[in-house]
Amino acid sequence: MKPKQQFADRMLSLGLARVSEAAALASARHVGRGNQEAADQAAVDAMRRQLNMLNIRGTVVIGEGERDKAPMLFIGERVGTWQGPAVDIALDPLEGTALTAKDMPNALTIIAMGPKGSILHAPDVYMDKLAIGPGYPEDLVSLDMPPEERLRLLAAAKGCSTADLTVCVLERTRHKELISRIRNTGAAIRLITDGDVAGVMHCTDPEHTGIDAYMGIGGAPEGVLAAAALTCMGGQMQGRLLFRNDDERGRAMSAGISDFDRVYTRKDMIRADVILAATGVTDGSILRGIRRGPGFVETETILLRSRTGSQRKMTYRQLVDKNWNAKS
Ligand code: FBP
Repeated sequence: MKPKQQFADRMLSLGLARVSEAAALASARHVGRGNQEAADQAAVDAMRRQLNMLNIRGTVVIGEGERDKAPMLFIGERVGTWQGPAVDIALDPLEGTALTAKDMPNALTIIAMGPKGSILHAPDVYMDKLAIGPGYPEDLVSLDMPPEERLRLLAAAKGCSTADLTVCVLERTRHKELISRIRNTGAAIRLITDGDVAGVMHCTDPEHTGIDAYMGIGGAPEGVLAAAALTCMGGQMQGRLLFRNDDERGRAMSAGISDFDRVYTRKDMIRADVILAATGVTDGSILRGIRRGPGFVETETILLRSRTGSQRKMTYRQLVDKNWNAKS
């Protein structure tokens, strides 16, 4: 069934910003305190509380995990007041839990919403990802090409040499070969320890972030969230699900996936217009992290609507007492 194209996205977008802000504010007191579980739990609780105030009939399609593994915001959970439009929701209450605990760059909270049926129900497995920014011919590069070929084509389209390109890659032993092949083309690599949603988002503004492409294997839920961000910000993305065992294949089948080798384009992952809000937790190239001053906490949020291509950056200042509790 083709998803409906409209779902009161304009009205709901400000509510969505509140949801991502609430998760960031809740994780604020955990930044740099070495406890990633506590940071994540605080963000999950706050995001769920705020989400349940929205007048939507929402279903979490990308969430904290499968129902048996995640007590809250699990895949399939119904959220909202259950009045209003039927919507799919993809969320990550804290993308970069370790980054938050260590106060390293680019941790953020993120949530995307689209009409029912618009967002791919990806199971919680790995995904091989490739992303580039806007302005390139459609299907210029693909996951089926070797990395050398992708970079050669990207450089030619950009009118530069491969040595002028920078690729963002997660620092993992599984990427040893990918990293050396990219380096052999002369291209530079920005290694990140976590947070590949931000990694992909960086491709949308290479002049500012210095990143032209994202390559490598990360979480599939994060892949779908990144595809939602590119749907709003521009850019191309492909992803292929990777399965390590029969349990993971079984979970994919329960999510309605039967072609295990399929390459999903951005448009296969996000099939209609969506809205997306992301709030910085730690400083990054796209969003400023949480700031605390005497008696207040401040967040920066980016609010995106793919239908209009609009991008809003919003600062929110919440007055707090000395224990970080909001003044009521
Ligand atoms: P968390 O915020 O859940 O810790 O995930 C961070 C992350 O780095 C994602 O951005 C990325 O997709 C995934 O973990 C990579 O998984 P792994 O650490 O297993 O390589």
